[in-house]
Amino acid sequence: MQNPAFRIEGLGGIQELQGEIPVYGAKNAVLPALAAAVLVPGLSKFENVPGIADIPAMGALLEGLGARVTREGRTLSVEAGMISSSVLESTAARSLRASVLLIGSVLARTGSVTFPHPGGDVIGERPIDIFISAFQKLGATFSESGDAYTLAAPNGLSGGEFFFRVVTVTGTEAVMMAATAARDVVTLKNCALEPEVIATAEYLKSCGAHIEGAGTPTIVIRPSTLSAPVKTHRIIPDRIEAASFLALGALAGKSITVTGCEPSHLDAVLEGLRYMGVPVTVSGSSITVRAPEKLLPTRFRTHEYPGFATDAHPPFLILLTQAHGDSVMIESIFDGRLKYTEELVKMGAKITQVSPHRVNIQGPTVFQGRHIDTPDIRAGLAFMLAAIIGTGTSTIGNAHLIDRGYERIEERLRAVGVRITRV
Ligand code: EPZ
Repeated sequence: MQNPAFRIEGLGGIQELQGEIPVYGAKNAVLPALAAAVLVPGLSKFENVPGIADIPAMGALLEGLGARVTREGRTLSVEAGMISSSVLESTAARSLRASVLLIGSVLARTGSVTFPHPGGDVIGERPIDIFISAFQKLGATFSESGDAYTLAAPNGLSGGEFFFRVVTVTGTEAVMMAATAARDVVTLKNCALEPEVIATAEYLKSCGAHIEGAGTPTIVIRPSTLSAPVKTHRIIPDRIEAASFLALGALAGKSITVTGCEPSHLDAVLEGLRYMGVPVTVSGSSITVRAPEKLLPTRFRTHEYPGFATDAHPPFLILLTQAHGDSVMIESIFDGRLKYTEELVKMGAKITQVSPHRVNIQGPTVFQGRHIDTPDIRAGLAFMLAAIIGTGTSTIGNAHLIDRGYERIEERLRAVGVRITRV
């Protein structure tokens, strides 16, 4: 079938968007929770689960392992009493980078795991060397045959200390969850501090795991016996969705309120908006913004949490193209993530790439509508924002990639005045 696309009529600089945009549960909190559920011999229930394509993809991987995954509305249940396989289905595992999370829980639950090199976003090299060395440090052996990798620990994982030479979100999550099944204490250093890491630890602790220090650079996991949690685990709000919709409000809002979010996860984003002259009002789980007279230029550097999130960089780069003056975006986490800016230049932006990790931006510029195929989730959101504020009609192909990260996005945008249809 022809790949799905969004058609957007540009607002031509009119800043009249008005209303509320609800934020849904965080994709990058659901995925580690589903992987961790493989460790729990019983029924785990998760609520506030978004309707995005990555979830059934992860669910299919769990079913392939012998778990049963069912969904009622925004509640997802995982019954992992019986795990009968330790092989991740190759095609599914390749389509989803988050399949790396299962390496930890399947290895810990079954004593081995076989998997292909994971796929997912094409935003530069996505190695898994740190995962492999962490599990080897905990006593697993690593082997390759063809394009399949196998980690084995028939006598279970030992205790020990591991230092992440690079801060890795899924690496921290995968090793932390596996460590709950280790024979002795595991100390992890230079861990990721993301709210999604904390949320994964909270779920595991509700199943009886002994985990101290999640959200700090050092996490200590003591041997734990896990059992089904008594209560449903609520997925935290998606901070990247919130950042994306706040950017829209700052670009074209008369008054846009993002609801159901967690402002305390958005310090770097809110600080950046205020620095650019955007009026920001926080009240409870709602944040209201509008487009200022003039957006002020600035420089962003993406950084591990609590710094400015790399996933918020593409939507915020559109803000920089509208700021009056010279701005800079430094993408310090992923190489290859800035490639999408070439498409924005074709739409009229003045962007110069000065290194694999840095672009200089001159604003403000007007975006001319055109057809673009997005390479990944977050660049897709950036293209949507450019099309919305630009002139003329745009179509954005590979909409299914945007659907991986944003549930029914066209309905939420139409509700505040964006002229968008799915074609
Ligand atoms: C998570 O990816 C997110 N995905 C990404 O969101 C996010 O962009 C990224 O963290 C950074 O915040 C999920 O949580 C499912 P990393 P992850 O391991 O864990 C290097 C989205 O759009 N590295 O923290 O894969 C790696 O190359 C996605 O929702 C190694 O070198 O990212 C990168 O430079 C995109 N070796 C750095 O670590 C390894 O073994 C940080 O990557 C692992 C990672």
